[in-house]
Amino acid sequence: MRKPIIAGNWKMNKSRDEALQFIYNVNMKVPSSEFVDSVVCAQSPILRDLVKRQGDSLRVGAQTMHYLDNGAFTGEISAPLLESIGVTYVVLGHSERRAYYNETDTDVNKKIHQAFRYGLTPILCVGESLEIREAGTTDPYIKDQVVAALKGLGTEQIKALVIAYEPIWAIGTGKTATSEMANDTIRAIRGVVKGLYNDETAEAMRIQYGGSVKPANIDELLSMSDIDGALVGGASLDAESFLALVNAAVKK
Ligand code: PGA
Repeated sequence: MRKPIIAGNWKMNKSRDEALQFIYNVNMKVPSSEFVDSVVCAQSPILRDLVKRQGDSLRVGAQTMHYLDNGAFTGEISAPLLESIGVTYVVLGHSERRAYYNETDTDVNKKIHQAFRYGLTPILCVGESLEIREAGTTDPYIKDQVVAALKGLGTEQIKALVIAYEPIWAIGTGKTATSEMANDTIRAIRGVVKGLYNDETAEAMRIQYGGSVKPANIDELLSMSDIDGALVGGASLDAESFLALVNAAVKK
């Protein structure tokens, strides 16, 4: 059985005070990590503050990271620094990073290797544009993204990795993929991993859906066979809404 994982992706939102208030509001109420992994991914300058207050069942993630340990990369964030402040997750290859900061599949692959070197759990994002969905080429497109991102990883790393399938047209638009559509693509991703590795590895790996997930649609999404959780932007900003999402995952 795969443990569900709900990750809030706050993007470039929340002041330090708002983030600390959120942690204060959810901390005692987040369900045990025995049943669901609950994560919030925040802006870098407040990660340490959040880690200090994360409690037993909440974990903190970064939203991006460089693939090298250090160097002349103004504005970047290193894996050793994230590790040293107690961050445990990192979102990699989010479609906004790919679109606005030219993050390529090759970069994402290097970043995943780097995350594992420093004990961080990568949340690898993949997803197609509306044009690709409408052209009917979603599966081969996602396959290419997955194959490139996972290059050189071992089976234990694949089992530890989290993939977030996020159709770009569903992010922040209020348009959710139907649960069947999301499940079909997620099954296809699992199929790719089966082909690259083996059944056991693919069955152990957790795959989230992301794109306009909210308390009103989480139950249906999580009722699907292959959807193991969600990567949530807008609906993760509010404490009550985040709690509703993680509580829904406990029932899966
Ligand atoms: P959304 O964002 O939930 O606001 O659609 C999801 C994401 O970008 O991870």
